[in-house]
Amino acid sequence: MPHDELTPYLRDRWSPRVFDPTHELADDELRLLLQAARWSPSAGNTQRWAFLVGRRGDATFTTIQEQLSKGNAGWVANVSAVVVVCFQTGAAPEDQETPYLDLAEYDAGQTAAHLTVQAASMGLHVHQFAGFDHEGVAAAFGVPDHWRVATGVAIGRVGDPATSEVHEKKRSERKPLEEIAYAGSWGTPFA
Ligand SMILES: Cc1cc2nc3c(=O)[nH]c(=O)nc-3n(C[C@H](O)[C@H](O)[C@H](O)COP(=O)(O)O)c2cc1C
Repeated sequence: MPHDELTPYLRDRWSPRVFDPTHELADDELRLLLQAARWSPSAGNTQRWAFLVGRRGDATFTTIQEQLSKGNAGWVANVSAVVVVCFQTGAAPEDQETPYLDLAEYDAGQTAAHLTVQAASMGLHVHQFAGFDHEGVAAAFGVPDHWRVATGVAIGRVGDPATSEVHEKKRSERKPLEEIAYAGSWGTPFA
């Protein structure tokens, strides 16, 4: 099923493994990407998200790198920045109420989606990854117990597979729309 008619920011989005190891993200660019995440919608505007932000070579990036799975360590080393998305899972000691807590994970995922589209508009690519020691990251950064580390969001410029030691994968496919969009009753394809 072609997706040629999508906005180019979505049409041309994919998750590369080969990133340009010489590319650097300017301060302003990184802030803009975080602004895109920050301006995501959330249930009741509760914004139960927080980000650990590292740029290749800095202390935060290196600490995250130390927690990566084998499968992710190689390619993540070349990205320009990593943002680890965290979300609130319980009440803080000072919280009287915690409305919409059950939607915090959903909302946090959406911040990554917004950042991804903003990145596309800036000629950058994003590759999200869950393959790392989440508890290790939480411990290393002092993430509070009532928060959880969700995913890493790697950002950079696509590199050249011909000169990279990282192996690029084939582009992924999707399930047909009929299998996932229903109307009338569950399982009945949306016409
Ligand atoms: C929550 C999440 C976790 C992921 N974890 C990993 C990972 O640990 N390593 C990896 O190489 N890709 C990871 N991916 C990337 C997916 O495999 C990729 O998005 C999917 O295959 C679709 O490919 P595309 O993004 O190129 O369209 C993850 C993506 C998401 C959204």
